[in-house]
Amino acid sequence: MRVGILGSGLMGGKLGTLFARAGHDVVFSYARSEQKLKRLAREAQGNARAGSPGEAAREADALLLAVHWSRLDDVLKQAGDVSGKVIVSCSLPMNADDTALVIAHTSSGAEQLAKRLPKGRVVSAFNTVPSEVLLGVFEARRKTRRPSLVYCGDDASSKKTAAQLIRDVGFDPVDAGPLRITRYTEPFALLVAQLAYEGDGGPELAYRFERFGRKA
Ligand SMILES: NC(=O)c1ccc[n+]([C@@H]2O[C@H](COP(=O)([O-])OP(=O)(O)OC[C@H]3O[C@@H](n4cnc5c(N)ncnc54)[C@H](OP(=O)(O)O)[C@@H]3O)[C@@H](O)[C@H]2O)c1
Repeated sequence: MRVGILGSGLMGGKLGTLFARAGHDVVFSYARSEQKLKRLAREAQGNARAGSPGEAAREADALLLAVHWSRLDDVLKQAGDVSGKVIVSCSLPMNADDTALVIAHTSSGAEQLAKRLPKGRVVSAFNTVPSEVLLGVFEARRKTRRPSLVYCGDDASSKKTAAQLIRDVGFDPVDAGPLRITRYTEPFALLVAQLAYEGDGGPELAYRFERFGRKA
C-alpha cells in the first residue's frame, strides 16, 4: 500500500518506519523540520520519502493521522481533499497539556473527525498502545501469541485496510465494532498511558485479550 503519514512524531515516525519495513510505500509529512522528515525516510530502510501533507495524501491508499488534537485543523487543511481515503487515526482528543480528553462519553475524537471528513473513511487504531512498544512488537511479530490492538470504524473495506496495517506491524487486530465504540477505546487509551507512564507496567506495556472458558 501507499501510506501517507500526517504527523511524523513519536507515533507517526515509528509507525511510518515500520510500515516501510513491512514493504509499504511511505511518505512522511508534517514535522517542524524538513530535515527530520528526510532523516526518517532515510532511516526507515524501506521505500520511504519526505513530502508535504498534500503529497502524502494525494497518492495514498491509507493515511495515518498522528498529530496532537490542537494541530488537526492545520494538518487537514494542508492535506487537502481526502475524499474516499482510508484515514487511520491514532490521534486522541486531548487538551493542550495532555491531562484530559476534551471529547468523551457521548462522542469521541474519531467520531468528530468522521463528521469533519464525511467523505473520508475514518478508522481509529493504534492509540491504545504507547509508542515505545511499537518497535519491539514489530521485531517479535512472527511469534504466535501477538499482543492485541483494537480498531473501530463504520466502513468494512477501510477496516480491512487498517487490520492489514495492524497485522503488518506485529499486532493481532481486534475489531471492536463501529466508530461510536471509540467513546470507550479513547478513555481506554488513557488507562494504558496511565499504567505505562505512571504505574509499574512501564512504557513497554502492551495487552492481549484472552478467551476464558470453553465453547459449548
Ligand atoms: N505517543 C504515544 O505513545 C501515543 C499513544 C497513543 C496515542 N497518541 C496520540 O497520537 C497523536 C500523536 O502523538 P505523538 O506522541 O506522536 O505526538 P508528537 O510526537 O508530538 O508528534 C506530532 C507531530 O506533529 C508535528 N507538529 C507539531 N506541531 C507542528 C507544526 N506547527 N507544524 C508542523 N508539524 C507540527 C510534530 O513535529 P516535530 O516532529 O517537529 O515535533 C510531530 O511530528 C496524538 O493525538 C496522541 O494523543 C500518542
